[in-house]
Amino acid sequence: MADKLASYWSDAKQGLRAVELRAAGFEPSEAARTNAVVTIANAYTNAHRCNNRVRRIADLLVDAIAASGGQGLLVGAPAVSDALTQGTKNAGYSLMSRDLMADCIETGHFAHHGNSMIVVSGCDKTGAAALMPLARTNAFGLVVYPGTSSPGRVDFEPWASKGNNLTLMDYMEGSAAREAGRISEDELTSLQKCVMPGSGTCGAMFTANTMSSIAEAIGMMLPRGASHPADYDAASDIHDDVKNQAQASVAALYRLMEKGIRPRDIMVREAFENAITTAYAMGGSTNLYLHVLAIAREAGVSLAIEDLHRIGERVPLIANLQPHGAHAMVSLHNVGGVPVVMKALLEAGLLQGGVMTVTGKTLAENLAEVPLPEDLPEQDVVFPVSRPFAPPGNHISVLSGSLAPESCVLKLSGKTLEDGEFRGPAKVFDSEQAAMAAIRDGGVVPGDVVVVRHVGPVGAPGMPEMVHLTIQLQGRGLGKDVALITDGRFSGVSHGILVGHICPEGAKGGPIGVVRDGDVIVINPKTRRLDLDIPEAEMASRMASLEVPALSDLPPGSVLDKYRRLVSSAHHGCVQ
Ligand code: FES
Repeated sequence: MADKLASYWSDAKQGLRAVELRAAGFEPSEAARTNAVVTIANAYTNAHRCNNRVRRIADLLVDAIAASGGQGLLVGAPAVSDALTQGTKNAGYSLMSRDLMADCIETGHFAHHGNSMIVVSGCDKTGAAALMPLARTNAFGLVVYPGTSSPGRVDFEPWASKGNNLTLMDYMEGSAAREAGRISEDELTSLQKCVMPGSGTCGAMFTANTMSSIAEAIGMMLPRGASHPADYDAASDIHDDVKNQAQASVAALYRLMEKGIRPRDIMVREAFENAITTAYAMGGSTNLYLHVLAIAREAGVSLAIEDLHRIGERVPLIANLQPHGAHAMVSLHNVGGVPVVMKALLEAGLLQGGVMTVTGKTLAENLAEVPLPEDLPEQDVVFPVSRPFAPPGNHISVLSGSLAPESCVLKLSGKTLEDGEFRGPAKVFDSEQAAMAAIRDGGVVPGDVVVVRHVGPVGAPGMPEMVHLTIQLQGRGLGKDVALITDGRFSGVSHGILVGHICPEGAKGGPIGVVRDGDVIVINPKTRRLDLDIPEAEMASRMASLEVPALSDLPPGSVLDKYRRLVSSAHHGCVQ
Protein backbone atom coordinates (compact mmCIF):
# COMPACT_ATOMS: atom_id res chain seq x y z
CA MET A 1 0.00 0.00 0.00
CA ALA A 2 2.84 2.39 0.92
CA ASP A 3 4.32 2.03 -2.57
CA LYS A 4 1.07 2.96 -4.19
CA LEU A 5 0.33 5.86 -1.90
CA ALA A 6 3.39 7.73 -0.75
CA SER A 7 5.31 8.61 -3.89
CA TYR A 8 5.82 12.33 -3.24
CA TRP A 9 6.73 11.73 0.38
CA SER A 10 9.07 8.81 -0.11
CA ASP A 11 12.11 11.00 -0.81
CA ALA A 12 11.19 13.65 1.77
CA LYS A 13 14.34 12.96 3.77
CA GLN A 14 16.44 15.01 1.37
CA GLY A 15 16.64 18.42 -0.19
CA LEU A 16 14.11 21.20 -0.10
CA ARG A 17 11.29 18.92 1.03
CA ALA A 18 13.22 18.09 4.18
CA VAL A 19 13.77 21.79 4.84
CA GLU A 20 10.09 22.50 4.38
CA LEU A 21 9.00 19.60 6.57
CA ARG A 22 11.33 20.52 9.42
CA ALA A 23 10.21 24.15 9.33
CA ALA A 24 6.59 23.04 9.59
CA GLY A 25 7.38 20.84 12.60
CA PHE A 26 7.57 17.44 10.91
CA GLU A 27 10.45 14.96 11.07
CA PRO A 28 11.48 14.24 7.43
CA SER A 29 12.49 10.64 8.05
CA GLU A 30 9.11 10.00 9.69
CA ALA A 31 7.33 11.65 6.77
CA ALA A 32 9.24 9.43 4.37
CA ARG A 33 8.03 6.33 6.24
CA THR A 34 4.38 7.35 6.27
CA ASN A 35 1.96 4.78 4.92
CA ALA A 36 -0.69 7.34 4.02
CA VAL A 37 -0.90 11.10 3.64
CA VAL A 38 -4.45 11.85 4.65
CA THR A 39 -6.08 15.16 3.93
CA ILE A 40 -8.16 15.98 6.99
CA ALA A 41 -10.55 18.43 5.41
CA ASN A 42 -12.30 20.30 8.15
CA ALA A 43 -14.56 23.29 7.81
CA TYR A 44 -13.80 24.45 11.35
CA THR A 45 -14.95 27.71 12.81
CA ASN A 46 -15.70 28.86 16.32
CA ALA A 47 -18.28 31.25 14.86
CA HIS A 48 -21.20 28.85 15.09
CA ARG A 49 -22.36 25.77 16.96
CA CYS A 50 -22.81 23.76 13.75
CA ASN A 51 -19.05 23.41 13.16
CA ASN A 52 -17.39 24.53 16.38
CA ARG A 53 -16.47 20.93 17.34
CA VAL A 54 -14.88 20.17 13.98
CA ARG A 55 -11.33 21.13 14.96
CA ARG A 56 -11.46 18.79 17.96
CA ILE A 57 -12.55 15.95 15.68
CA ALA A 58 -9.88 16.84 13.12
CA ASP A 59 -7.21 16.67 15.84
CA LEU A 60 -8.52 13.27 16.95
CA LEU A 61 -8.30 12.07 13.37
CA VAL A 62 -4.72 13.30 13.02
CA ASP A 63 -3.76 11.40 16.18
CA ALA A 64 -5.55 8.24 15.07
CA ILE A 65 -3.88 8.38 11.66
CA ALA A 66 -0.47 8.90 13.26
CA ALA A 67 -1.09 5.84 15.44
CA SER A 68 -1.74 3.89 12.23
CA GLY A 69 1.53 5.02 10.64
CA GLY A 70 0.09 7.78 8.49
CA GLN A 71 0.18 11.52 8.43
CA GLY A 72 -2.93 13.68 8.66
CA LEU A 73 -2.65 17.09 7.02
CA LEU A 74 -5.29 19.66 7.93
CA VAL A 75 -7.06 21.56 5.18
CA GLY A 76 -9.53 24.29 6.11
CA ALA A 77 -12.60 25.64 4.39
CA PRO A 78 -15.12 28.38 5.25
CA ALA A 79 -18.20 26.79 6.85
CA VAL A 80 -21.12 29.19 6.54
CA SER A 81 -24.00 28.76 8.96
CA ASP A 82 -27.41 29.56 7.59
CA ALA A 83 -28.47 30.47 11.12
CA LEU A 84 -26.06 33.42 10.89
CA THR A 85 -26.88 34.45 7.33
CA GLN A 86 -30.59 33.77 6.72
CA GLY A 87 -32.63 36.92 6.36
CA THR A 88 -29.55 39.17 6.22
CA LYS A 89 -27.82 40.94 3.34
CA ASN A 90 -25.08 38.30 3.52
CA ALA A 91 -27.40 35.35 2.86
CA GLY A 92 -25.94 34.97 -0.65
CA TYR A 93 -22.73 33.62 0.85
CA SER A 94 -24.46 30.44 1.97
CA LEU A 95 -25.09 28.33 -1.13
CA MET A 96 -22.02 29.79 -2.81
CA SER A 97 -19.91 28.42 0.07
CA ARG A 98 -20.70 24.84 -0.99
CA ASP A 99 -18.63 25.15 -4.14
CA LEU A 100 -15.99 27.29 -2.46
CA MET A 101 -15.45 24.66 0.26
CA ALA A 102 -15.21 21.88 -2.32
CA ASP A 103 -12.59 23.93 -4.17
CA CYS A 104 -10.65 24.61 -0.97
CA ILE A 105 -10.55 20.91 -0.13
CA GLU A 106 -9.48 19.93 -3.64
CA THR A 107 -6.79 22.61 -3.59
CA GLY A 108 -5.33 21.63 -0.22
CA HIS A 109 -5.47 17.95 -1.06
CA PHE A 110 -3.53 18.20 -4.29
CA ALA A 111 -1.19 20.98 -3.17
CA HIS A 112 -0.15 19.00 -0.07
CA HIS A 113 0.13 15.77 -2.05
CA GLY A 114 -2.49 13.90 -0.08
CA ASN A 115 -3.38 10.44 -1.27
CA SER A 116 -6.50 9.88 0.80
CA MET A 117 -9.02 12.06 2.56
CA ILE A 118 -11.33 12.23 5.55
CA VAL A 119 -13.76 15.12 5.38
CA VAL A 120 -15.46 16.41 8.52
CA SER A 121 -18.77 17.97 7.51
CA GLY A 122 -21.32 19.84 9.64
CA CYS A 123 -23.68 22.67 8.70
CA ASP A 124 -25.86 22.31 5.61
CA LYS A 125 -23.54 23.05 2.67
CA THR A 126 -20.61 21.29 4.28
CA GLY A 127 -22.55 18.04 3.81
CA ALA A 128 -22.49 18.48 0.05
CA ALA A 129 -19.03 20.04 0.10
CA ALA A 130 -17.75 16.91 1.88
CA LEU A 131 -18.90 14.54 -0.85
CA MET A 132 -18.06 16.76 -3.82
CA PRO A 133 -14.24 16.73 -3.45
CA LEU A 134 -14.25 13.03 -2.60
CA ALA A 135 -16.09 12.39 -5.85
CA ARG A 136 -14.00 14.94 -7.74
CA THR A 137 -10.58 13.70 -6.65
CA ASN A 138 -11.60 10.05 -6.23
CA ALA A 139 -9.04 9.88 -3.42
CA PHE A 140 -9.60 7.06 -0.94
CA GLY A 141 -11.79 8.55 1.72
CA LEU A 142 -14.99 9.01 3.65
CA VAL A 143 -17.03 11.53 5.63
CA VAL A 144 -17.29 12.06 9.40
CA TYR A 145 -20.22 14.07 10.76
CA PRO A 146 -19.61 16.23 13.84
CA GLY A 147 -23.14 15.62 15.04
CA THR A 148 -26.45 17.29 15.54
CA SER A 149 -27.70 19.32 18.48
CA SER A 150 -29.47 17.62 21.35
CA PRO A 151 -33.15 18.49 21.77
CA GLY A 152 -34.95 20.06 24.74
CA ARG A 153 -38.41 20.25 26.37
CA VAL A 154 -40.77 22.77 28.01
CA ASP A 155 -43.91 22.36 30.13
CA PHE A 156 -46.42 24.49 28.19
CA GLU A 157 -48.44 23.74 25.09
CA PRO A 158 -48.35 23.39 22.19
CA TRP A 159 -44.75 22.35 22.83
CA ALA A 160 -45.09 20.29 26.04
CA SER A 161 -46.74 17.42 24.21
CA LYS A 162 -43.70 17.12 21.92
CA GLY A 163 -41.65 15.88 24.89
CA ASN A 164 -37.87 15.96 24.64
CA ASN A 165 -37.89 16.81 20.95
CA LEU A 166 -37.75 20.59 20.75
CA THR A 167 -35.29 22.04 18.27
CA LEU A 168 -34.34 25.40 16.85
CA MET A 169 -37.48 25.24 14.71
CA ASP A 170 -39.61 25.41 17.87
CA TYR A 171 -37.79 28.51 19.06
CA MET A 172 -38.13 30.19 15.65
CA GLU A 173 -41.84 29.43 15.42
CA GLY A 174 -42.25 30.45 19.06
CA SER A 175 -40.59 33.74 18.28
CA ALA A 176 -43.07 34.41 15.47
CA ALA A 177 -45.92 33.31 17.76
CA ARG A 178 -44.72 35.83 20.37
CA GLU A 179 -44.72 38.58 17.73
CA ALA A 180 -48.28 37.66 16.90
CA GLY A 181 -49.22 37.74 20.61
CA ARG A 182 -49.92 34.03 20.75
CA ILE A 183 -47.48 33.21 23.61
CA SER A 184 -45.97 35.18 26.52
CA GLU A 185 -42.45 36.60 26.79
CA ASP A 186 -41.67 34.14 29.59
CA GLU A 187 -42.71 31.22 27.42
CA LEU A 188 -40.50 32.43 24.59
CA THR A 189 -37.59 32.76 27.03
CA SER A 190 -38.17 29.17 28.19
CA LEU A 191 -38.01 27.99 24.60
CA GLN A 192 -34.87 30.00 23.97
CA LYS A 193 -33.12 28.42 26.97
CA CYS A 194 -34.04 24.83 26.33
CA VAL A 195 -34.13 24.04 22.62
CA MET A 196 -30.40 23.66 22.09
CA PRO A 197 -28.50 22.63 25.24
CA GLY A 198 -25.26 22.08 23.35
CA SER A 199 -23.58 22.47 20.01
CA GLY A 200 -24.28 20.62 16.79
CA THR A 201 -26.28 21.11 13.66
CA CYS A 202 -29.99 22.00 13.61
CA GLY A 203 -31.51 19.04 15.39
CA ALA A 204 -34.03 17.34 13.11
CA MET A 205 -34.54 16.48 9.46
CA PHE A 206 -33.37 19.85 8.27
CA THR A 207 -30.70 20.33 5.62
CA ALA A 208 -27.60 19.35 7.65
CA ASN A 209 -29.15 16.07 8.77
CA THR A 210 -30.58 15.53 5.30
CA MET A 211 -27.05 15.72 3.93
CA SER A 212 -25.52 13.57 6.69
CA SER A 213 -28.22 10.96 6.01
CA ILE A 214 -27.41 11.14 2.30
CA ALA A 215 -23.69 10.64 3.03
CA GLU A 216 -24.53 7.55 5.08
CA ALA A 217 -27.12 6.22 2.64
CA ILE A 218 -24.88 6.67 -0.37
CA GLY A 219 -22.26 4.58 1.42
CA MET A 220 -19.65 7.27 2.17
CA MET A 221 -20.10 7.39 5.95
CA LEU A 222 -20.00 4.57 8.50
CA PRO A 223 -23.38 3.23 9.59
CA ARG A 224 -25.17 5.27 12.29
CA GLY A 225 -22.79 8.16 11.66
CA ALA A 226 -25.42 10.60 10.44
CA SER A 227 -27.52 11.03 13.55
CA HIS A 228 -25.38 11.23 16.68
CA PRO A 229 -25.52 14.22 19.02
CA ALA A 230 -22.46 16.47 18.84
CA ASP A 231 -21.91 16.64 22.59
CA TYR A 232 -23.57 16.16 25.98
CA ASP A 233 -23.98 19.87 26.63
CA ALA A 234 -22.30 23.10 25.56
CA ALA A 235 -19.55 22.76 28.19
CA SER A 236 -18.71 19.09 27.59
CA ASP A 237 -16.27 17.36 25.28
CA ILE A 238 -17.61 15.88 22.04
CA HIS A 239 -20.01 12.95 22.41
CA ASP A 240 -18.51 9.47 22.79
CA ASP A 241 -20.39 8.33 19.68
CA VAL A 242 -18.53 11.00 17.68
CA LYS A 243 -15.18 9.89 19.10
CA ASN A 244 -15.97 6.29 18.24
CA GLN A 245 -16.98 7.28 14.70
CA ALA A 246 -13.72 9.19 14.23
CA GLN A 247 -11.62 6.23 15.38
CA ALA A 248 -13.64 3.77 13.33
CA SER A 249 -13.42 6.02 10.28
CA VAL A 250 -9.61 5.91 10.34
CA ALA A 251 -9.73 2.11 10.50
CA ALA A 252 -12.23 2.15 7.63
CA LEU A 253 -9.97 4.41 5.58
CA TYR A 254 -7.11 1.93 5.87
CA ARG A 255 -9.44 -0.90 4.86
CA LEU A 256 -10.52 1.08 1.81
CA MET A 257 -6.88 1.64 0.82
CA GLU A 258 -6.03 -2.03 1.34
CA LYS A 259 -8.97 -3.14 -0.77
CA GLY A 260 -8.54 -0.41 -3.36
CA ILE A 261 -12.08 0.93 -2.94
CA ARG A 262 -12.42 4.54 -4.04
CA PRO A 263 -15.34 6.98 -3.80
CA ARG A 264 -16.42 6.44 -7.39
CA ASP A 265 -16.63 2.70 -6.69
CA ILE A 266 -19.17 3.61 -3.99
CA MET A 267 -20.97 6.65 -5.41
CA VAL A 268 -22.43 4.85 -8.40
CA ARG A 269 -25.84 5.44 -9.92
CA GLU A 270 -27.54 2.83 -7.68
CA ALA A 271 -26.02 4.43 -4.59
CA PHE A 272 -27.42 7.82 -5.59
CA GLU A 273 -30.83 6.19 -6.01
CA ASN A 274 -30.48 4.67 -2.53
CA ALA A 275 -29.55 8.04 -1.06
CA ILE A 276 -32.48 9.83 -2.71
CA THR A 277 -34.86 7.08 -1.60
CA THR A 278 -33.62 7.28 2.00
CA ALA A 279 -33.81 11.07 2.09
CA TYR A 280 -37.40 10.96 0.83
CA ALA A 281 -38.35 8.30 3.37
CA MET A 282 -36.99 10.58 6.09
CA GLY A 283 -38.64 13.77 4.78
CA GLY A 284 -35.41 15.49 3.73
CA SER A 285 -34.94 19.12 2.78
CA THR A 286 -35.61 20.56 -0.69
CA ASN A 287 -31.93 21.51 -0.71
CA LEU A 288 -31.17 17.87 -1.48
CA TYR A 289 -32.26 18.66 -5.04
CA LEU A 290 -29.43 21.17 -5.44
CA HIS A 291 -26.82 19.16 -3.61
CA VAL A 292 -27.46 15.68 -5.01
CA LEU A 293 -27.28 17.05 -8.54
CA ALA A 294 -23.98 18.76 -7.71
CA ILE A 295 -22.48 15.63 -6.12
CA ALA A 296 -23.62 13.47 -9.04
CA ARG A 297 -21.95 15.84 -11.47
CA GLU A 298 -18.67 15.45 -9.53
CA ALA A 299 -19.03 11.66 -9.45
CA GLY A 300 -19.64 11.46 -13.19
CA VAL A 301 -23.09 9.97 -12.59
CA SER A 302 -25.81 11.03 -14.99
CA LEU A 303 -28.70 12.32 -12.91
CA ALA A 304 -31.28 14.97 -13.79
CA ILE A 305 -33.89 16.73 -11.70
CA GLU A 306 -36.64 14.57 -13.18
CA ASP A 307 -34.74 11.46 -12.02
CA LEU A 308 -34.86 12.69 -8.43
CA HIS A 309 -38.61 13.16 -8.68
CA ARG A 310 -39.14 9.76 -10.26
CA ILE A 311 -37.02 8.00 -7.64
CA GLY A 312 -38.59 9.93 -4.76
CA GLU A 313 -42.26 9.72 -5.71
CA ARG A 314 -42.43 5.95 -5.12
CA VAL A 315 -41.14 6.30 -1.55
CA PRO A 316 -43.40 6.54 1.51
CA LEU A 317 -42.46 8.90 4.32
CA ILE A 318 -41.60 6.61 7.24
CA ALA A 319 -39.55 8.75 9.63
CA ASN A 320 -41.53 10.79 12.15
CA LEU A 321 -39.04 13.64 12.32
CA GLN A 322 -39.37 17.41 12.40
CA PRO A 323 -40.18 19.52 10.44
CA HIS A 324 -43.06 17.32 9.20
CA GLY A 325 -43.21 15.08 12.29
CA ALA A 326 -42.65 15.06 16.02
CA HIS A 327 -39.14 13.87 16.75
CA ALA A 328 -35.61 15.28 16.85
CA MET A 329 -32.73 13.56 15.03
CA VAL A 330 -31.30 12.24 18.27
CA SER A 331 -34.52 10.26 18.80
CA LEU A 332 -33.76 8.50 15.54
CA HIS A 333 -30.21 7.86 16.70
CA ASN A 334 -31.53 6.31 19.90
CA VAL A 335 -33.62 3.73 18.01
CA GLY A 336 -30.74 2.79 15.71
CA GLY A 337 -30.31 5.72 13.32
CA VAL A 338 -30.47 5.79 9.54
CA PRO A 339 -29.78 2.01 9.25
CA VAL A 340 -33.25 1.29 10.69
CA VAL A 341 -34.85 3.42 7.98
CA MET A 342 -32.69 1.78 5.32
CA LYS A 343 -33.45 -1.72 6.57
CA ALA A 344 -37.17 -1.03 6.20
CA LEU A 345 -36.62 0.31 2.69
CA LEU A 346 -34.36 -2.59 1.70
CA GLU A 347 -36.89 -5.17 2.90
CA ALA A 348 -39.59 -3.37 0.89
CA GLY A 349 -37.47 -3.62 -2.26
CA LEU A 350 -36.89 0.13 -2.41
CA LEU A 351 -33.10 -0.01 -2.01
CA GLN A 352 -30.41 -1.81 -3.95
CA GLY A 353 -28.38 -3.82 -1.47
CA GLY A 354 -25.50 -4.85 -3.71
CA VAL A 355 -23.68 -1.50 -3.70
CA MET A 356 -20.31 -1.10 -1.98
CA THR A 357 -19.86 1.14 1.08
CA VAL A 358 -16.97 2.54 3.12
CA THR A 359 -17.17 -0.42 5.49
CA GLY A 360 -15.74 -2.49 2.63
CA LYS A 361 -19.01 -4.42 2.65
CA THR A 362 -22.15 -4.07 0.62
CA LEU A 363 -25.15 -2.17 1.89
CA ALA A 364 -27.08 -5.43 2.36
CA GLU A 365 -24.21 -6.84 4.42
CA ASN A 366 -24.14 -3.71 6.58
CA LEU A 367 -27.87 -4.00 7.24
CA ALA A 368 -27.97 -7.77 7.84
CA GLU A 369 -28.23 -7.50 11.65
CA VAL A 370 -30.25 -4.28 11.78
CA PRO A 371 -33.84 -4.74 13.05
CA LEU A 372 -36.92 -3.65 11.16
CA PRO A 373 -38.87 -0.77 12.75
CA GLU A 374 -41.69 -3.15 13.71
CA ASP A 375 -39.22 -5.39 15.57
CA LEU A 376 -37.90 -2.59 17.80
CA PRO A 377 -39.25 -2.01 21.32
CA GLU A 378 -42.33 0.22 21.11
CA GLN A 379 -41.40 3.45 19.32
CA ASP A 380 -42.96 5.95 16.94
CA VAL A 381 -39.84 7.39 15.30
CA VAL A 382 -39.60 5.05 12.29
CA PHE A 383 -42.80 3.57 10.87
CA PRO A 384 -42.99 0.31 8.88
CA VAL A 385 -43.21 0.78 5.12
CA SER A 386 -46.59 -1.01 5.25
CA ARG A 387 -47.93 1.61 7.70
CA PRO A 388 -46.09 4.81 6.73
CA PHE A 389 -46.26 8.29 8.19
CA ALA A 390 -47.47 9.42 4.74
CA PRO A 391 -47.95 7.49 1.51
CA PRO A 392 -45.68 7.96 -1.53
CA GLY A 393 -46.00 11.12 -3.58
CA ASN A 394 -46.62 13.52 -0.68
CA HIS A 395 -43.22 14.93 0.10
CA ILE A 396 -41.24 16.81 -2.58
CA SER A 397 -42.42 16.93 -6.18
CA VAL A 398 -40.93 18.52 -9.24
CA LEU A 399 -43.52 20.64 -11.04
CA SER A 400 -43.45 22.77 -14.14
CA GLY A 401 -45.96 25.00 -15.88
CA SER A 402 -46.50 28.49 -17.18
CA LEU A 403 -44.78 29.93 -14.10
CA ALA A 404 -41.90 27.45 -14.16
CA PRO A 405 -41.21 26.38 -17.76
CA GLU A 406 -38.07 24.46 -16.68
CA SER A 407 -38.97 23.23 -13.20
CA CYS A 408 -39.64 24.04 -9.57
CA VAL A 409 -39.92 21.96 -6.41
CA LEU A 410 -43.04 21.67 -4.25
CA LYS A 411 -42.60 20.61 -0.64
CA LEU A 412 -45.66 19.23 1.11
CA SER A 413 -43.90 17.07 3.74
CA GLY A 414 -46.62 14.45 3.90
CA LYS A 415 -49.59 16.79 3.63
CA THR A 416 -52.30 16.55 0.99
CA LEU A 417 -53.98 19.65 -0.38
CA GLU A 418 -57.71 20.05 0.11
CA ASP A 419 -59.40 19.88 -3.31
CA GLY A 420 -56.13 18.45 -4.66
CA GLU A 421 -54.72 21.89 -5.44
CA PHE A 422 -54.00 25.30 -3.95
CA ARG A 423 -55.51 28.21 -5.84
CA GLY A 424 -55.22 31.79 -4.64
CA PRO A 425 -54.48 35.42 -5.43
CA ALA A 426 -50.85 36.49 -5.69
CA LYS A 427 -49.20 38.94 -3.31
CA VAL A 428 -46.01 39.82 -5.16
CA PHE A 429 -42.73 40.95 -3.56
CA ASP A 430 -39.38 41.68 -5.14
CA SER A 431 -37.44 40.89 -1.98
CA GLU A 432 -37.63 38.77 1.14
CA GLN A 433 -37.64 41.91 3.27
CA ALA A 434 -40.71 43.35 1.51
CA ALA A 435 -42.58 40.07 1.96
CA MET A 436 -41.62 39.96 5.64
CA ALA A 437 -42.90 43.48 6.21
CA ALA A 438 -46.24 42.59 4.61
CA ILE A 439 -46.67 39.43 6.67
CA ARG A 440 -45.84 41.30 9.88
CA ASP A 441 -48.29 44.07 8.98
CA GLY A 442 -51.08 41.55 8.49
CA GLY A 443 -51.09 42.09 4.75
CA VAL A 444 -51.03 38.36 4.01
CA VAL A 445 -54.26 36.52 4.74
CA PRO A 446 -55.54 32.94 4.38
CA GLY A 447 -55.86 31.93 0.74
CA ASP A 448 -53.00 34.13 -0.50
CA VAL A 449 -50.08 32.95 -2.59
CA VAL A 450 -47.01 34.93 -1.53
CA VAL A 451 -44.63 35.39 -4.49
CA VAL A 452 -41.01 36.28 -3.70
CA ARG A 453 -38.95 36.82 -6.84
CA HIS A 454 -35.52 37.98 -7.97
CA VAL A 455 -33.94 35.94 -5.15
CA GLY A 456 -32.53 33.15 -7.33
CA PRO A 457 -28.89 32.10 -7.77
CA VAL A 458 -28.21 35.02 -10.12
CA GLY A 459 -30.80 37.53 -8.92
CA ALA A 460 -30.03 37.60 -5.19
CA PRO A 461 -27.26 36.51 -5.94
CA GLY A 462 -26.78 33.20 -4.12
CA MET A 463 -30.38 31.95 -3.82
CA PRO A 464 -31.05 32.69 -0.16
CA GLU A 465 -33.40 30.63 1.98
CA MET A 466 -36.84 32.11 2.67
CA VAL A 467 -37.00 30.42 6.05
CA HIS A 468 -37.91 33.48 8.09
CA LEU A 469 -40.98 33.96 5.91
CA THR A 470 -42.10 30.36 6.38
CA ILE A 471 -41.46 30.65 10.12
CA GLN A 472 -43.59 33.80 10.27
CA LEU A 473 -46.40 32.06 8.45
CA GLN A 474 -46.22 29.06 10.77
CA GLY A 475 -45.91 31.19 13.89
CA ARG A 476 -49.00 33.19 12.89
CA GLY A 477 -51.03 30.08 12.22
CA LEU A 478 -51.04 30.66 8.44
CA GLY A 479 -48.90 27.68 7.44
CA LYS A 480 -51.81 25.60 6.15
CA ASP A 481 -53.69 28.48 4.53
CA VAL A 482 -51.04 30.49 2.67
CA ALA A 483 -48.75 29.21 -0.07
CA LEU A 484 -45.31 30.69 -0.77
CA ILE A 485 -43.64 30.45 -4.18
CA THR A 486 -40.18 31.76 -5.04
CA ASP A 487 -37.17 31.50 -7.30
CA GLY A 488 -35.15 31.35 -4.08
CA ARG A 489 -34.92 28.28 -1.89
CA PHE A 490 -36.04 27.07 1.51
CA SER A 491 -34.33 25.89 4.64
CA GLY A 492 -34.90 22.33 5.80
CA VAL A 493 -36.70 23.96 8.75
CA SER A 494 -39.32 25.31 6.34
CA HIS A 495 -42.65 23.59 6.08
CA GLY A 496 -46.05 24.58 4.76
CA ILE A 497 -47.22 24.82 1.16
CA LEU A 498 -43.96 25.81 -0.45
CA VAL A 499 -42.72 26.05 -4.02
CA GLY A 500 -39.08 27.00 -4.55
CA HIS A 501 -36.28 26.77 -7.11
CA ILE A 502 -38.56 28.25 -9.82
CA CYS A 503 -36.65 28.11 -13.12
CA PRO A 504 -35.92 30.15 -15.07
CA GLU A 505 -35.51 32.62 -12.22
CA GLY A 506 -36.78 36.19 -12.42
CA ALA A 507 -33.33 37.63 -13.07
CA LYS A 508 -33.04 35.38 -16.14
CA GLY A 509 -36.34 36.57 -17.59
CA GLY A 510 -38.47 33.79 -16.09
CA PRO A 511 -42.25 34.26 -16.11
CA ILE A 512 -42.32 34.73 -12.33
CA GLY A 513 -41.36 38.29 -13.33
CA VAL A 514 -44.74 38.99 -14.95
CA VAL A 515 -46.96 38.03 -12.02
CA ARG A 516 -49.07 40.91 -10.71
CA ASP A 517 -50.85 41.37 -7.41
CA GLY A 518 -54.21 39.64 -7.53
CA ASP A 519 -53.37 37.23 -10.37
CA VAL A 520 -54.61 33.74 -9.54
CA ILE A 521 -51.87 31.14 -9.09
CA VAL A 522 -52.60 27.40 -9.14
CA ILE A 523 -50.38 24.76 -7.52
CA ASN A 524 -51.42 21.26 -8.48
CA PRO A 525 -49.31 18.32 -7.27
CA LYS A 526 -51.47 15.78 -9.12
CA THR A 527 -50.91 17.31 -12.54
CA ARG A 528 -47.46 18.50 -11.41
CA ARG A 529 -48.22 22.03 -12.58
CA LEU A 530 -47.49 25.54 -11.32
CA ASP A 531 -49.53 27.97 -13.39
CA LEU A 532 -50.56 31.57 -13.64
CA ASP A 533 -54.29 31.43 -14.36
CA ILE A 534 -54.45 34.03 -17.11
CA PRO A 535 -55.22 33.57 -20.83
CA GLU A 536 -52.33 32.41 -23.00
CA ALA A 537 -52.48 35.58 -25.10
CA GLU A 538 -52.24 37.72 -21.97
CA MET A 539 -49.26 35.67 -20.78
CA ALA A 540 -47.53 36.07 -24.16
CA SER A 541 -48.16 39.78 -24.16
CA ARG A 542 -46.75 40.22 -20.65
CA MET A 543 -43.69 38.13 -21.50
CA ALA A 544 -43.07 40.20 -24.64
CA SER A 545 -42.99 43.40 -22.60
CA LEU A 546 -41.17 41.96 -19.57
CA GLU A 547 -38.38 44.18 -18.29
CA VAL A 548 -35.93 42.29 -16.15
CA PRO A 549 -34.67 44.52 -13.30
CA ALA A 550 -30.99 45.45 -13.42
CA LEU A 551 -28.76 43.27 -11.27
CA SER A 552 -27.31 44.82 -8.15
CA ASP A 553 -23.74 46.13 -8.29
CA LEU A 554 -21.09 43.80 -6.92
CA PRO A 555 -17.39 44.52 -6.45
CA PRO A 556 -15.63 43.10 -9.54
CA GLY A 557 -13.71 39.96 -8.61
CA SER A 558 -15.70 39.36 -5.42
CA VAL A 559 -16.82 35.80 -4.83
CA LEU A 560 -20.45 36.73 -5.43
CA ASP A 561 -19.51 38.49 -8.66
CA LYS A 562 -17.73 35.32 -9.85
CA TYR A 563 -20.57 33.15 -8.59
CA ARG A 564 -23.17 35.17 -10.47
CA ARG A 565 -21.21 34.79 -13.69
CA LEU A 566 -20.63 31.04 -13.34
CA VAL A 567 -23.63 29.57 -11.55
CA SER A 568 -26.14 27.39 -13.39
CA SER A 569 -29.84 27.31 -12.58
CA ALA A 570 -31.41 25.34 -9.74
CA HIS A 571 -32.71 23.01 -12.46
CA HIS A 572 -29.08 21.85 -12.76
CA GLY A 573 -28.19 22.03 -9.06
CA CYS A 574 -26.60 25.51 -9.19
CA VAL A 575 -23.32 23.90 -10.20
CA GLN A 576 -20.60 26.12 -11.59
FE1 FES B 1 -26.04 25.07 10.71
FE2 FES B 1 -28.74 24.61 10.71
S1 FES B 1 -27.69 26.53 10.71
S2 FES B 1 -27.10 23.20 10.69
